[in-house]
Amino acid sequence: MIDANTVQDLCQKAIDMRSESYAPYSDFLVGSAILTDDGKIFTGCNIENSAFGPSICAERTAIVKAVSEGHRDFAAIAIAGGKRDGELQYCAPCGVCRQVMREFCKPSFKIYLAKSAADYQEFTLADLLPESFGPENLE
Ligand code: THU
Repeated sequence: MIDANTVQDLCQKAIDMRSESYAPYSDFLVGSAILTDDGKIFTGCNIENSAFGPSICAERTAIVKAVSEGHRDFAAIAIAGGKRDGELQYCAPCGVCRQVMREFCKPSFKIYLAKSAADYQEFTLADLLPESFGPENLE
């Protein structure tokens, strides 16, 4: 169980990270904040590229930052996205990010789609990626 203050903190950090987005092509700014099982938070933003393909989403930025610092066990992620001059949406993670979550996160991993620190939708990874393929398939 993740307490309400922690969820609000995660959501606010995701919202704040939108200011670091590099999204000159889509003008769609996304921030994220992922919580490790031992209580650390790593943040991310989307970083686009003129060749389009190398662009990376906010969620994967946060995950690769955490994994590269030795953290592989996660409890939750908050995501905040919307057009640069528009309102925040309940911005769901793309399919590639869901699959990357699947690599490291349990089915009960929480995904918060934040419009503000207190206004968010809550899902689990199992909700958003049912019948998935993962590391156990290769055992
Ligand atoms: N994007 C994310 O960073 N996360 C999402 O959950 C959805 C989409 C980014 C990718 C691209 O930079 C921009 O939003 C528009 O698709």
